[in-house]
Amino acid sequence: MKIKNRLIAVGLVVVLLGAVTVAQVVPGDSSTYPSVSIVNTPHNLNNYPGVSVPGNQVCLPCHTPHNALLSGEENVLWNHAETGETFVMYSSTAGQPEGPSKLCMGCHDGVTAIDNYGGNGGSGIVITGAAALGSDLSNDHPIGIEYPTSLPGEYNDPAGFAPGISGGSGVRLVAISGVDRVECTSCHNVHNNGLGDFLRVPLQESYLCLQCHIK
Ligand code: HEC
Ligand code: HEC
Ligand code: HEC
Ligand code: HEC
Repeated sequence: MKIKNRLIAVGLVVVLLGAVTVAQVVPGDSSTYPSVSIVNTPHNLNNYPGVSVPGNQVCLPCHTPHNALLSGEENVLWNHAETGETFVMYSSTAGQPEGPSKLCMGCHDGVTAIDNYGGNGGSGIVITGAAALGSDLSNDHPIGIEYPTSLPGEYNDPAGFAPGISGGSGVRLVAISGVDRVECTSCHNVHNNGLGDFLRVPLQESYLCLQCHIK
């Protein structure tokens, strides 16, 4: 390629990158939130080095149509091994992780094999690094806690939570034993990574935090 052509090519790339940054996420306008199917995310375990699910199935490591492994609050036709860890919680009022949070920790404890599903025992591949929250959750945003609607002026009314990714529910509370709580899925949507970090609403301008906290 001649120098001039190369410069044109570089210029084009710069213009294209510019176009990408122009299509920005506007906190509060869910039509600007890009949507990325679970197929193209780290939650498709076939994308994880060394893991291969029969038939390149995406849902199988987490869900099964029959003979689910867990019941009660964790019954979303769950197919993955549960965590065996005992967790240190942020809030002294919180019990051990339940509901969706317990499901997350079946991989994000950094101990349970990510491909341990359907009772297959797994291959021993575990999450490492920052995504392995470990068994000490005392340095993570509290979960397993009741949302304090009784503190007006400090916490927003959940009825006003703005729409999230794909226009679906934004931050949300999870009802466990009839109590509306903050859990991992209050901020995260396991199935959609359009905003990165599987977030339900953008982190820009701390929009996520300000959904709940009046600060
Ligand atoms: C990495 C684990 C994981 C994978 C892979 C996964 N899910 Fe889920 N799914 C969850 C968790 C955790 C919940 C419960 C929490 C929640 O509702 O957000 C859930 C809940 C659901 C629900 C009930 C609540 C809802 O969002 O409607 C449906 C339906 C569902 N998943 C379908 C699927 C399908 C279909 C696939 C494959 C294309 C899939 N999931 C892949 C973890 C996963
Ligand atoms: C079947 C195993 C499995 C389950 C269950 C699971 N995850 Fe993950 N998750 C992974 C893997 C594997 C990665 C990629 C880790 C890495 O990059 O090192 C990941 C990455 C993530 C990331 C980082 C995404 C990014 O863009 O880097 C977030 C956030 C996340 N998971 C949240 C959750 C939440 C919340 C739940 C429960 C609702 C959950 N996960 C349940 C396996 C799982
Ligand atoms: C109050 C909101 C909130 C709650 C609750 C929450 N997270 Fe997150 N999480 C975030 C935000 C924001 C990020 C991205 C910024 C960061 O990495 O600190 C994130 C990042 C992550 C990551 C990626 C870490 C990395 O650096 O690769 C994982 C994995 C994750 N969360 C899992 C979980 C799990 C599992 C739970 C429940 C035990 C949970 N989160 C509860 C807001 C939350
Ligand atoms: C879904 C609602 C929700 C979201 C979103 C949320 N929080 Fe929270 N946050 C809570 C609740 C509820 C508590 C615990 C209140 C209590 O029990 O005292 C809490 C606790 C905290 C605390 C600890 C306060 C203490 O007294 O120890 C901090 C700091 C905090 N949140 C910061 C953040 C930040 C930063 C974000 C965004 C990344 C965020 N929160 C997102 C609901 C939320």
